[in-house]
Amino acid sequence: MNKMNGQVEVSICYGTLCFVMGGSEFEIIQDQLPQNIRHLVHVKGMNCPGYCNKQENGKPPFVTINGKLMGEANLQKVISAITEELTNGTYK
Ligand code: FES
Repeated sequence: MNKMNGQVEVSICYGTLCFVMGGSEFEIIQDQLPQNIRHLVHVKGMNCPGYCNKQENGKPPFVTINGKLMGEANLQKVISAITEELTNGTYK
């Protein structure tokens, strides 16, 4: 968990590649989070940080959860990573 404010920080890439590869679905992520954890999650957008330029990062769309990179992200994967992070901070 982010020690600064006790929230899990989720950063969503709104770069063109991530957006067209499915990142657009994250626009509604705050509403999709289970009610009981919604206040524990801080979602923000970011411009392309360049993850898409390195093959070893996997495929877009990219999201970071407390700074940990997730490729081929989708709502279900992100929500389960957030839950994992809130539970024991072990999402890798
Ligand atoms: S467009 Fe998302 S990392 Fe480049």
